[in-house]
Amino acid sequence: MGVMWARKAGRDTHLSIFRNKQDLSKRAAEEIISLIRLGLAEEGRFTLMLSGGSTPKSVYAQMARAKLDWAKVHAFWGDERCVPPDHPDSNYRMGKESLLDRIHLPEENIHRIRGELPAAQAAQEYQEELVAFFGSQERPPYFDLILLGMGEDGHVASLFTASPALEESERWVIAVEHKQPPPPMVARVSISLPVINAAKRVILIVSGTAKALLVKQALNPEDEELRLPVQRIKPVDGELEWMLDEDAARLLADRKPNLT
Ligand code: 6PG
Repeated sequence: MGVMWARKAGRDTHLSIFRNKQDLSKRAAEEIISLIRLGLAEEGRFTLMLSGGSTPKSVYAQMARAKLDWAKVHAFWGDERCVPPDHPDSNYRMGKESLLDRIHLPEENIHRIRGELPAAQAAQEYQEELVAFFGSQERPPYFDLILLGMGEDGHVASLFTASPALEESERWVIAVEHKQPPPPMVARVSISLPVINAAKRVILIVSGTAKALLVKQALNPEDEELRLPVQRIKPVDGELEWMLDEDAARLLADRKPNLT
């Protein structure tokens, strides 16, 4: 397996780099499955937040091959585009086709964001669903694992650079206007930073040369200014793991000493 190097990249932040996207997907799937197995053994239930975008498709497809007690796993989404669930841009559809249709997850374990509704209503309903599932609205839900990708502009979930949504501190789910690239330019529904940062573990899966400069910027410990949404991910008590392919990590090479 092509782990080139893996090391700590700060307090409770880990960084692993793989030779190519194929190795990255395989290793990410293995790690996610072993976290689910561990969580099920310890807690009897696992809360998994799925990412949208295209990078996780092959990760999900490999996860679907694992034999485990999927009936105890609950799937959520970190963000959704406001399109119907069968639309090609739907994050729900991507997760369904690459993972959910291939495993035995009971219908009641699938907690999708209703992208077919107006964003504000879908956000409100999802917030209520999280409150009902986690049984409290006092503190943000504690997800066992949140999977995220990073956009070519450094966004995560649907939290875009300079968006007021980044400053949300009360609500767990928010409606986000999205009228400028990256596409698709449709309204979004996104979890807020407090939810991401309350998770037990966050895994960021990033692939491709187009993201190399942002990866370098995000992992530059000398830069105190939090310009990119991805830099705002700092789990309070949890762990953050960056999983990259060599293309996405290519500009990090001469920064190795800074990453210890
Ligand atoms: C979305 C996303 C978004 C995505 C990144 C990476 O709905 O747009 O959830 O945050 O994860 O943009 O997307 P790619 O994997 O397609 O590059």
